[in-house]
Amino acid sequence: EIYRKNKVYEINREAALFYYKNLLDKKNGGLNYLLKRGLEIQTIKKFGLGYAHEDWEQLNKYLLCKGYNQNEIFMAGLVSEQKNKNGYYDRFRNRVMFPIINTTGKVIAFGGRVLGDFQPKYLNSPETPAFNKGNNLFGLNFAKNEVTQKHQIIVVEGYMDVISLYQNGIKNVTASLGTALTKNQANLLKRYAGEVVIAYDTDTAGQAATLRGLDVLREVGCKVRVLRLSQGKDPDEFVMKKGKVAFLEEVDNALSLIDYKIMLLKKENDLATTEGSVKFVKSITKILKGLTSPVEMDAYIKKIALESRISIEAIKSEIYGNNKYDR
Ligand code: GTP
Ligand code: MN
Ligand code: MN
Ligand code: MN
Ligand code: MN
Repeated sequence: EIYRKNKVYEINREAALFYYKNLLDKKNGGLNYLLKRGLEIQTIKKFGLGYAHEDWEQLNKYLLCKGYNQNEIFMAGLVSEQKNKNGYYDRFRNRVMFPIINTTGKVIAFGGRVLGDFQPKYLNSPETPAFNKGNNLFGLNFAKNEVTQKHQIIVVEGYMDVISLYQNGIKNVTASLGTALTKNQANLLKRYAGEVVIAYDTDTAGQAATLRGLDVLREVGCKVRVLRLSQGKDPDEFVMKKGKVAFLEEVDNALSLIDYKIMLLKKENDLATTEGSVKFVKSITKILKGLTSPVEMDAYIKKIALESRISIEAIKSEIYGNNKYDR
């Protein structure tokens, strides 16, 4: 198994170099696409971005020439088998390529983005002996030094979010590869950072992923806050338009887990009505029960009493269960 893993690393590395050279060939359009999106050559080099040609077997032929056999190339997930089993064709075609590199510097997989508005927008390597999607994060290899210094990591959804932030000088950033954050990813984050800041897209999918991510991170005992962009649909768009300082301000303003949930519950419930404020307090006290710090508990109880106009005493009874009406 170790042998197979190392073979995949080796082939992927070869493919990454091949894709990179293709990108620099200006007639292919990949470079132009990335430049149009605001990336600098230096950034493109740093992340080893590439381009997969529209041909059906360019990479496969190249790797065979390099001496890898067909089974190995297939095992690395770089080619797919034809339906009639008569041969193999390149998995990634006419896409800009993002090598996914682990913390020891091995190319474990790729993500590829179409140059236009086609589906699927992104295609990833399949599971291979070297790659399990739920166990890895994109960009952690570039972020880890900064992360250990800052004790903080910003988790975003996509490749371009990581790369744009990095180019704008925010380097403690990684992407969960579009999936809901898994427990293994959460543990990986915890290993490097004292605090995780979730900065997902502003759409409903991003919000749903934030809620799930929060739960997973809390489960593994991570300190976590939520950043909600005031403008733009994702961190890439935001930082390219507004710049580093504006983004860092957003990081400063990121909400604690409980403040985030309070904010959501305030949107769900109309606190001007009795029914709304009762529901609000009941939901939020369920979350407060999990708090271990008495100081935090006190601060939040006062805050929600103020918001809901329900007495501190009643809220405490709801939390601690010494409700005199139950007796
Ligand atoms: P850009 O349009 O290039 O800025 O991409 P984005 O990262 O903003 O895309 P989006 O917010 O839609 O998705 C976030 C991340 O989810 C992407 O970076 C991918 O990792 C993943 N993703 C998005 N679309 C697909 C898809 O069609 N298939 C797969 N497998 N992953 C996707
Ligand atoms: Mn061509
Ligand atoms: Mn999205
Ligand atoms: Mn996005
Ligand atoms: Mn985007």
